[in-house]
Amino acid sequence: MTATIIDGKETAKEKREQLAKEVEELKQKGVTPGLAVILIGDDPASLSYVRGKKKAAEAMGMHFQLDHLDASLTEEELLQLIDQYNANDQFHGILVQLPLPKHISEKAVIERISPDKDVDGFHPLNIGKMLLGEDTFLPCTPAGIVELLNKTGVSLSGKEVVVVGRSNIVGKPVGQLLLNENATVTYCHSRTANISEHTLKADILVVAVGRANFIKADQIKEGAIVIDVGVNRLDTGKLVGDVDFEEAKEKASYITPVPGGVGPMTITMLAHNTVKSAKRTLA
Ligand code: GUN
Repeated sequence: MTATIIDGKETAKEKREQLAKEVEELKQKGVTPGLAVILIGDDPASLSYVRGKKKAAEAMGMHFQLDHLDASLTEEELLQLIDQYNANDQFHGILVQLPLPKHISEKAVIERISPDKDVDGFHPLNIGKMLLGEDTFLPCTPAGIVELLNKTGVSLSGKEVVVVGRSNIVGKPVGQLLLNENATVTYCHSRTANISEHTLKADILVVAVGRANFIKADQIKEGAIVIDVGVNRLDTGKLVGDVDFEEAKEKASYITPVPGGVGPMTITMLAHNTVKSAKRTLA
């Protein structure tokens, strides 16, 4: 079988067009959705992600403010800046780009962002709501993955889902969202005894481990849907996912490419959450 490519760029484009209309409607009601992004230090990957967020947010007509701060910033200074944005009505979303320098506690930062402006969906209160299936800001990459899966038209109910990776940002929440969609979910991770034994049973395989070409075709069930969350740069400069795409596309029914799969949806769902937050101020 040769897989159909799940075009994240196209799905993101359609959703961004819709969001741009919603931004315009909000503006007519006197509210411009505003997103504040705080970036600390000069990690090249983070810089690139933040540039993508800025470009997309501005293209949708949103107000975007970037605070790019030196890595010597103290935790207390960062927490005070977050407090300022929490209190500023012009901003409906606050995002602190991760990873943070070692001297700053990620937990303290995430918990300081008002749950009402937590457009990343990382605050424990919002994660709790997601777990309970309540309306909240869903984490962007997992929510984008659900949108891409829905785009295939394949029902998620009753499907065997295997998630490889258990990060707080992607692995854990994507499994939870798919459980909420009535899938049967298995998590594999670095201590899993025999990963292939699980992945070979997957109707839907989600891979988020951050290791280039980690999953090979012989670990994929014929006809599975493969979602590759990885973004890894090879020494040659080429960007590749966590799945060996060339092999896997001959086995899967649907597959996301890297780049152009999950990535564009992450940014789009961030915009979605910011618009959602802005709408709430009118409710
Ligand atoms: N670093 C990598 N991905 C993300 C993300 O989705 N949100 C934030 N805040 N930082 C990240």
